[in-house]
Amino acid sequence: MSSPLDCSKALSYLSEYEHMDGLSVTELMDSKINGGLTYNDFLILPSKIDFGSHEVSLDSKLTKRISLKTPFVSSPMDTVTEADMAIKMALSGGIGFIHNNCSSDEQAEMVRKVKKYENGFINDPVVISQDRTVGEVKVLGKELGFSSFPVTSNGKLGGKLIGIVTSRDTQFHEADQDPISEIMTTELITARNGISLKEGNRILQKSKKGKLPIVDDKFNFVSMLSLTDLQKNHDYPYASKSPHAKQLLCGAAISTLRSDRERLTKLVAAGLDVVVLDSSQGNSTFQLEMLKWAKETYPELEVVAGNVVCREQAAELIAAGADALRIGMGSGSICITQEVMACGRPQATAVYNVCEFAKKFGVPCMADGGIQNIGHIIKAIALGATTVMMGGLLAGTTEAPGNYFYRDGKRLKVYRGMGSIDAMQQTDSNANASTSRYFSQDDKVLVAQGVSGSVEDKGSIVKFIPYLFNGMQHSCQDVGVKSLTALIDETANGKVRFEFRTPSAQFEGGVHNLYSYEKRLHN
Ligand code: IMP
Repeated sequence: MSSPLDCSKALSYLSEYEHMDGLSVTELMDSKINGGLTYNDFLILPSKIDFGSHEVSLDSKLTKRISLKTPFVSSPMDTVTEADMAIKMALSGGIGFIHNNCSSDEQAEMVRKVKKYENGFINDPVVISQDRTVGEVKVLGKELGFSSFPVTSNGKLGGKLIGIVTSRDTQFHEADQDPISEIMTTELITARNGISLKEGNRILQKSKKGKLPIVDDKFNFVSMLSLTDLQKNHDYPYASKSPHAKQLLCGAAISTLRSDRERLTKLVAAGLDVVVLDSSQGNSTFQLEMLKWAKETYPELEVVAGNVVCREQAAELIAAGADALRIGMGSGSICITQEVMACGRPQATAVYNVCEFAKKFGVPCMADGGIQNIGHIIKAIALGATTVMMGGLLAGTTEAPGNYFYRDGKRLKVYRGMGSIDAMQQTDSNANASTSRYFSQDDKVLVAQGVSGSVEDKGSIVKFIPYLFNGMQHSCQDVGVKSLTALIDETANGKVRFEFRTPSAQFEGGVHNLYSYEKRLHN
C-alpha cells in the first residue's frame, strides 16, 4: 500500500490533480441528458465560510430600472395580493402585484392606497356616524376585535370629525338603544394632516389617549395614529420606495385584452410603478401588441411580460421591449396546467434556460410558481432569476385577502388558482381577468387550469419575510457567496457546484424516522 500524501499539500493537490467536486450548472441543466428538473431534483454544494451571514446582501433587480433590497414578490392572485399585502411586501423590501380579478376602479383604488401609505398612520380606519346606537357599536367592536371608532358628520372617512367613541365610553353604558352621540368623547386632541410620524407619536404620548385623529384644515377626518400601533411600530430599513416621491413601490396585473388599455391608464394615474401582463402563455400576438402599446404610451412604466418557459418565447418578448420576464408554466402549487394541457416545463429547467438567454440582453427574470421554501428561492436565483414570485407561500398570512375559518382544528384561509372554476366564475364582465389569463373569456364551457383549496395561517408578512431574508443570508453563507449577484455570477462561471438528488437522497434530506415532531419554521 502506498504511503499517504503529505497533509500540508492537500490544497495544492486539489488544484493540481483533482476536478472540482460536483457539477457545473451547464452539466446539471443539460436537459438532453438529464431531462427537465425541478428545484427538488438537485442541491448546491457548500463552500468556505469566511464572513458573517449578516454581511450577505440580497439586493435584486426586479426590472431593467427597478432594484429592490430583497428578491421577494407577491403574485397577482385574488387570494394573495390586494393593498394590504402590497403595502407590507414593499415595507419589507419586496413588492406586491395587485390582482385584476376586480373592476379597474377597484384595482386603481388599491394601487392608490399603497402609494398613499405612510408607515404608522391608519389610513382606512372604520368610521361611524353619531346616530349609531351603543349596542351596535358594542357588536361592531366584538366583530372587528377593536373598540375605538372615530365619529364623523357623514359616518365616513373625509367627513367632519365630531367625536370618538372607545370601549371606556361603551363598556359600562347599559342602555344599548342610546345613540352614541350621548356618550362619545367630543373634547378631542387632534393633529393636522401632513404631520410627521415622529411628531404625531410625540403628541399621542403626551395626550395620554389611545388614539390621535388626524384632520385637514377644515377639520375633516383623514387618518389616525394608535398607541398600540406605536408600541409595536416596526422600522422597515429595506422598504422599496420610488426614488423621487419616497412612496412605496407598487405593481399590478392587467390582462392582454385590448379593453385593458383603459385599465392600465387608470392604474398609471393612481401611481403604478410596474405592471405585469398576466397570461399563462405569454408568447401571443395579444401580449406583444399590449407590450408595445404600454411601452410607447407609458415610457416611464416598467413592464413585466410572461409567462414563458422557453428561449423562443422569451426572445419574442425581449424584442418587443419587456423590462423583465416572468417564468413558469405549470409549476404553481394550485396549478393543473401540465396535467390538463400537456404543456409547460419543469420549473428549474425553465428558469435556467430563460434566464441564461435573457441575461445576454440585460433583462431581469422572475421565477414564478413552485416556491415552497427558502431553499427553492436560493436555487431559483442560482439558476439566474433575480426575483421570485410567490403565491402559496404567502397565502394564509394576515395580509392575504379573505377571512380565516376553522376546519379540523386548524385556522385556514382560502387559496385558489386564477384558473380555477371558482376564480373564473367570479370574473365579471368588467374584469375578465381570470378567464383572459387562460384565453377563455369567450368559452361556453370553462376548462379549469387550477384548483381552489385552503392553506394554514402563517401569521403576518412582517415576521415571515424577515424569516425568508435571514434564511437566505445563511444559505448564501453556506454556499460561500456574499450576495445574490455573486451567487448568479459564480454559478455561471462554474465555481458554485451542484449535485443531483436521487429519490432516496430526497428522503434522507427530509425529517425521517421520528415517531412525531413539530415543524416550527421561526419564532
Ligand atoms: P405558487 O407560488 O406555487 O402557489 O404559484 C403561484 C403561481 O401560479 C402564480 O404566480 C401564477 O403564475 C400561477 N397560477 C396562478 N393561478 C393558477 C392556476 O389556476 N393555474 C395555473 N397556474 C396558476
